[in-house]
Amino acid sequence: KPALRLGIAGLGTVGVGVLQLLRDNAAAITARAGRPIEVVAVSARDRTRDRGVDLAGLRWHDDAAALAGDDGIDVVLELIGGAEGTARTLVESALSRGRDVVTANKALLALHGAHLARIARESGAALLFEASVAGGIPAIKLVREGLAADRLLRVGGILNGTCNYILTTMRDTGRDFDDVLSEAQALGYAEADPSTDVDGWDAAHKLAILAGLAFGQPVAFDGLHVDGIRAIQACDQHFARELGYRIKLLGTARRTGDDAIEAWMRPCFVPKNAPIAHVDGVFNAVVTEGAFSGPMLIEGRGAGAGPTASAVVADVIDLARGTALPVWGVAPKAEIACAPRSALGG
Ligand code: HSE
Repeated sequence: KPALRLGIAGLGTVGVGVLQLLRDNAAAITARAGRPIEVVAVSARDRTRDRGVDLAGLRWHDDAAALAGDDGIDVVLELIGGAEGTARTLVESALSRGRDVVTANKALLALHGAHLARIARESGAALLFEASVAGGIPAIKLVREGLAADRLLRVGGILNGTCNYILTTMRDTGRDFDDVLSEAQALGYAEADPSTDVDGWDAAHKLAILAGLAFGQPVAFDGLHVDGIRAIQACDQHFARELGYRIKLLGTARRTGDDAIEAWMRPCFVPKNAPIAHVDGVFNAVVTEGAFSGPMLIEGRGAGAGPTASAVVADVIDLARGTALPVWGVAPKAEIACAPRSALGG
């Protein structure tokens, strides 16, 4: 079979991680995909930067949007990030030309997923986004494939590694929020603007994506109730411990009616013996509750080069095999609304 040809937009942590994973594990990936997978073109802002990977022989596009029109590419990997601007233009343009897209971009999917899915459906292109939720945990495949026969009642979990790291370190060291934040940024997991992490938005984007798949309809993102961890102080951690709890930034979405869900992201007291209380550091946890499968928790690395690249390339293998799923199996109804904040229970 001919090689599947990739064009990568964005050579940051994830883009470079994808190049390295494809090279380091090429033989196994080719065997599993049933054909070779080759990166043929790349695009990034700075052509001269040394990224520690060999880019020789790859076509270079200064303008990421040019990847959408490069007929030597079968799949565009959008690893730039951001809900608007270059990333959005590239994904829209590639999909509307019928070119398959793999993205790790949670903000783009949460805010414009329904629109992009419509373009993909009309052109027959695939839009895959395993890496957009919980890094290396196969959260999207869990909900869409592993639990395909179930009726999901609830989905959510710990969906931001930076916040979980900050909360864990505050708890273990007694240090204050501001002090630990800069340390978390230095680890390289934080978003370009750390308020996206600490104010809960990044985790909320991931929750909206999971909920949209779990409940079969895109979620109206502006209906989510979102609180972050900025207000948590060392004394909150102290009281939590005294009372037998741990503080976690948790997200939950659950169905409340045929066309309604409730969804929130906020710091919670969690009993210290609950399994999720022990998901610490930069780890994420994806939690589901199915009418048939019952409760489930999967813990793993939610950010970083290796875990995120693993999820990106799993999508690429699906495309190479011809086993990629449409975003929603059937044309979705309108966006599902979230209950207003006043309607949420404790
Ligand atoms: N900033 C995110 C996190 C990266 O800390 O979890 C992965 O989306």
